[in-house]
Amino acid sequence: MTTYYSTTTQITDLSKSETGKSATARFAQDVKEGLSQQQKQLSSRYFYDGEGSRLFQKIMHLPEYYLTRSEHNVFTTHQQTISSQLAAKGNFHLIDLGAGDATKTKIILRQLLLQQSDFDYVPVDISGDAMVELCENLHDELPELQTHAVVGDYFDALDWLDANKPSRKVLLFLGSNIGNFNPDERMAFLKKVRSHMQPGDMLLIGMDLCKEPETILRAYDDAAGVTADFNLNLLHRINRELGGNFDVGQFKHFALYDPQEGVMKSFLISQQDQEVSIKATGQSFYFHAWEAIHTESSYKFTLKQAETMGQELGFELQHIFQDKNHYFADVLYVVT
Ligand code: AVJ
Repeated sequence: MTTYYSTTTQITDLSKSETGKSATARFAQDVKEGLSQQQKQLSSRYFYDGEGSRLFQKIMHLPEYYLTRSEHNVFTTHQQTISSQLAAKGNFHLIDLGAGDATKTKIILRQLLLQQSDFDYVPVDISGDAMVELCENLHDELPELQTHAVVGDYFDALDWLDANKPSRKVLLFLGSNIGNFNPDERMAFLKKVRSHMQPGDMLLIGMDLCKEPETILRAYDDAAGVTADFNLNLLHRINRELGGNFDVGQFKHFALYDPQEGVMKSFLISQQDQEVSIKATGQSFYFHAWEAIHTESSYKFTLKQAETMGQELGFELQHIFQDKNHYFADVLYVVT
């Protein structure tokens, strides 16, 4: 289960028990349920196959997609304060939920090493390929860093750490990934995270902030059409993995921002009456002309909300770090 790559990097794979077959079956089940609703929906969780991950990398470099650059600016501007606050209560595991290629985390990792903090880096990601690549990269770029990557579901990883490697926890949930949960799911998720935390443990959450609606809208409807391709890839993925026959050219990407709910919503809209059969679901689905599939919600936050969320969960809000434009916040909560 644990593979040692070098004296400083190892990977524990908790996902092996889940066979490829059951993952596909779950995907098929979710697609079947989502497309059978009165208001059709598909989960943004399924955006990230190989092609989707490649397109998301491209999104992060788009001029309109300010989120990644903004959080990068938060970290470069405040790296010293962030690192000393994370390390202030003694040795710890820096647990990076959804680490990916850890571009932003590396800023903090470098600073923690510079400050000679006593910590292990624990990137957690559902993609085993991403964790192998990250370990190789960290071994080259930060050879003095101790890395123990975990491949699997976030809560399986936290259970495993509690049982096998207990230590003070500093949890990272970056990139406004929290924004993909609706308010109920968000609180349920954070309560579960909180239940794994003890006094002295910390949680740093990246949140995209409410701002000029046009700025937000453009980030999810870029001129080059990369976000449209990212959204439409979900239909290609259903065709590839579930034996669907979506005529993807007959669907279009549509994005809108609701400034009262603070939510960016993305849809795929059928441009004509059409029927689509999906083998793995054992049925066909009918689309009226201009009928929409809701594919993603990306919530935006106010600083007041960040404060209230902490209170409801029993965290003390220690610090809010912001970028120079005040587009993005990384909010540090601590259990006291
Ligand atoms: C990875 C969830 C933070 O919601 O901004 C980017 C995904 N969707 N463009 C976001 C996404 C469309 C992204 N998150």
